Amino acid sequence: MLDWKPLDRAKIVSGLKTRWASNSLIILDECASTNDEVAKAASSGAPEGTVVVAETQHAGRGRFGRTWHSPRGGLWLSILIKPKNSLEFIDSLPLIGALAVTKVLVEGWGVRAGVRWPNDVVVDGRKIAGILVKSKSRGNELVYATLGIGINANFDAREVEAIRGFSTSLSAILGQPVDREGLLVATISEVESLYESVNSTGESVVMGILRNLDWSRGKRVRVTTVDREFTGSFADYESLQKARINATDGPQHVQIGTLVSVDYESD
Ligand code: BTN
Repeated sequence: MLDWKPLDRAKIVSGLKTRWASNSLIILDECASTNDEVAKAASSGAPEGTVVVAETQHAGRGRFGRTWHSPRGGLWLSILIKPKNSLEFIDSLPLIGALAVTKVLVEGWGVRAGVRWPNDVVVDGRKIAGILVKSKSRGNELVYATLGIGINANFDAREVEAIRGFSTSLSAILGQPVDREGLLVATISEVESLYESVNSTGESVVMGILRNLDWSRGKRVRVTTVDREFTGSFADYESLQKARINATDGPQHVQIGTLVSVDYESD
C-alpha cells in the first residue's frame, strides 16, 4: 500500500469550476457504496450534480453484479444525474463516464488510456477504471440516475488478489502517486462537459471523441444480452447507447441496457 493521505476538501472546492456538477460535495471516509449514498441523498431531495466520494467502500459494486474492490488510495465517487431526456438516455451514461475518465487520463496525465465498451477504461488492455450506472424510474419517467465512477489511482492492483493480472493503477503506470484531488476535479468537470455537449448539440461531437479514444474496435468479444449470446469482433459504436458487433452469422446491434455480460478475449 502506498502512502495514503485523505482527500483535501478545500483543494477540491478551490479547483472546481463546474456549473452544476458537485454543487453539493459529500466526502466520506467509508461507506458501503457511493451509489447507495447518492441514491439516499436523491431521496431526500438532493440537487442534480450532488457528488459523494468515499476513501474506501466495503460493498463496492461493479457491473453485472460483480464486486468492486475499493481500497484506500483509489478514487470512488458517484454523481447524481437527473436527465430531462427520455428513459433511454440513461444508456448513454456508461460511455459518457468512461469517455470522461479516459479523456482526463490521456490529456491530463499523458496515459495511453482507451474506452473498452461498454463501461471500462483500460491501459494496455488492463482495467484502470469502471463505470456503474443505476437508475430510479417511476412508470416511464426517469426520476434520477447515479453515475458511479471507480478509478484505480494510488494503490498497487497486484496487492488485490481478485483483480491481479486484469487491472492496473495510475500510480503503477506513472511510477508515483497522483494528485487525487486534481483527478477528481478533472473527472467531474469532464463528465459535466460531455453530458452538456450531448444535451445541447446531440451526440455527434462526443461520438467523434469516443471513436478517437476507443480501445474496443477489432477486439474479439463474447456478449450475452437478455435474449442472445454470441462471439464476434467489436465493429463500431452506432450511438452512445448502441454498438455493432460482427458475429460469424452477421452484424449484431446491441443496446447497452440489454447487456448481461461482456467478456473480451484478452480478459
Ligand atoms: C465496473 O467496471 O464493473 C463498474 C465499477 C464501478 C465502481 C464504482 S466505485 C464508485 C461507485 N460505487 C460503487 O459501488 N460502484 C461504483
